[in-house]
Order: sequence, then structure tokens, then C-alpha cells
Amino acid sequence: DLGTYPYYMAKEIDEQPAVLRKIIQAYQNEQGQFELDKTIISSIENSDRIYIVACGTSYNAGWVGKQLLETIAHIPTEVHLASEFGYNMPILTKKPFFIFLSQSGETADSRQVLVKINAMGFPSLTLTNVAGSTLSREADFTLLLHAGPEIAVASTKAYTAQITVLTALSETIARENGVAGDGNMAHELGIVATGMERILSEKTAIEQLATDFLSTSRNAFYIGRGIDYYVVMEAALKLKEVSYVQTEGFAAGELKHGTIALIEENTPVIAIITNKATAGHTRGNVQEVSARGAHTLVIAMEGLEQQNDQIVLPEVHPLLTPLVSVVPTQLLAYYTSLHRGNDVDKPRNLAKSVTVE
Ligand code: M6R
Repeated sequence: DLGTYPYYMAKEIDEQPAVLRKIIQAYQNEQGQFELDKTIISSIENSDRIYIVACGTSYNAGWVGKQLLETIAHIPTEVHLASEFGYNMPILTKKPFFIFLSQSGETADSRQVLVKINAMGFPSLTLTNVAGSTLSREADFTLLLHAGPEIAVASTKAYTAQITVLTALSETIARENGVAGDGNMAHELGIVATGMERILSEKTAIEQLATDFLSTSRNAFYIGRGIDYYVVMEAALKLKEVSYVQTEGFAAGELKHGTIALIEENTPVIAIITNKATAGHTRGNVQEVSARGAHTLVIAMEGLEQQNDQIVLPEVHPLLTPLVSVVPTQLLAYYTSLHRGNDVDKPRNLAKSVTVE
């Protein structure tokens, strides 16, 4: 039910703080700490490496998941595109554990990998929004995203839900393994939910930025470093699929190795800056493209912001910044699509769940 919303994408972007709170509730114990099914945790503890396999937005969430699993739980983690993995399988460790990320649980590219690794006898977990979906039935374990039905083809709340459940998983593994972890993540995620609400209350300003920066451009760049790089990959995918603006999500430091040649007068370049360690260098990249005529828009976290930054994000735990930095990029994609008169919820050439390889 759309309620008062014109499109599901707008509704689903707005639902994200509530989804986060629902996940926190679903996966925390009486002490307010994350606690997940023990059989999942012990299966992961018995493995020597995690392989995340996914497509599209779920794949982009996987990269944030790698950061969480490695930093919080200290488990080496690789991220693979399902459509490549099946034909070009990496050398696996002795005791791999597979995590399939899939909103729908029906993606054929991911399923063919699951069929292969099931035949090899390796353990697997599906994170999905759909109970009883194919990937859920065929994996050993399932964790539900609790995001509620996602109708718009462009995935928004499933991305933030995946990162949130992966945070709960990382923290539970850390505690069971006696690793220090990174604070009380259930508490930190509550702060994130409030932060998301603040960004969502600034929609009018973000709509104006979409008009100023993206309404007529044929191409655009998103740049960032470290965890912000993972988010710009997702931001670029979102803008491409709903607005049809050709967009690259780029590691900011890599621009000077070739791609900066594409910067012309008024090329939109959107930078995400949430990390103290990389902020200075990314600022340098913003200046470089600006000096070559780029129309630059900066999304920066509180504490790292500068005077002319257009979007300032509320400060959250350093590992959880993707959950807030992605929100303005979802809104920029939504409004650009809307202003261009596209069918926001059903972009051309795309289907909600991709059941062919
Ligand atoms: O249902 P899944 O998460 O397995 O879907 C994977 C991709 O097809 C999906 O994320 C796609 O990239 C979205 N349209 C992105 O918004």
C-alpha cells in the first residue's frame, strides 16, 4: 500500500529508520546485546574464511559487510559477484563459509553458486528479505532482513537492512570468540536510526540539489575512499538505474590514474567524506576536479564538514557511516528520476528479481 506516497521508492527510503529498529529488536537479547542463532555462529567459528556472494545492490552491501566482519569479528572475508563466481571460482580455503546476500532470495546468478557449493558440501547462510525463498530453502541457515516487502525495483531499505544484520552477526561472532568488538552495536544502530531521520527531514534541500546538479547532465561521478568508496559504488548504481544518468562510483585516489580525463566544465562530481583518515586526501581530489571545471557536491560527516559542503551527515559510529551516507544518495537518485519524468519504481529494461543467469 502506497499510502500518501507517489512511489514505492520514496516510501521505502522513508521506512529505513523503522526497519533498523525492527532489526535491533529482532536480534537482541534481554541485555540489549545482539545474539544470533548459536548454530550459525558455531558453523562460522569452525570456518577459516567467509565468502560473500551477491549481485547488484546486495553485492555493494557485501563490501560493507566485509569491513564489518573483518574489523569487528576478525574473520577474513572475500566478496564476489555471483555471476562471475560460478564460472571463475576463486581458490577456496580449507574451511570456507558462504554468505548469500539477496533481498528477493530468488536471484538465479546467486542460486547457481549455492547449488555448486552445496554439491561441494560447504556450509552457507542466506540473508534475505523473503522467508521461504529459494536461496533461503537451499542454504543451511537463514537470517531474515525484516525490511518488509520491497516493491520498487531500486533496492534501498534492503541495502541498509543487510548492513544492519551483518553488523549484528559480526558483533555476535566477536563476543562468542572473545574478541573485543567495537562497542555496543545495538546502541550505535539506534543512534544511526535517529540520524537517518534527520537526513530524511532535509528532503526539500536534497531535492533542490538534485535539480541543481543532476537534472540535465548526461553523466556524473561519485567519489570516496575506504568505506565511502563502498557507498559510492551503491550510490552510482542507484543513480544509473532510476535516472539513466551514466554514473561511475570511483575510488577518489584512482581518478588521477586516467578517469580524470573525463571531467569537463560542469561534470557533476559528488564526494562522500565520512572518515577522518581519508578526508584530507578526498578533499584534495575534490579540488582537483573542481579546478578542471567539475560541479562538485560534498556530502560530509559532522566534525569533518567545511563551509561550502552541501550535505552534512549526523555523526555515527565509524563503521556504520554507510547507513547514513547512502540515504542522501538514494534521495538524489529518486528526485533526479522523478524530475526527468521516468517511471521511478519500474525503470526501463529491469525486473525486481532477476531469475535468469
Ligand atoms: O534480490 P537480490 O538482492 O538478489 O537482487 C540483486 C540485484 O538484482 C538487485 O540488488 C539490483 O541490483 C537492484 N535493482 C538494485 O537496486
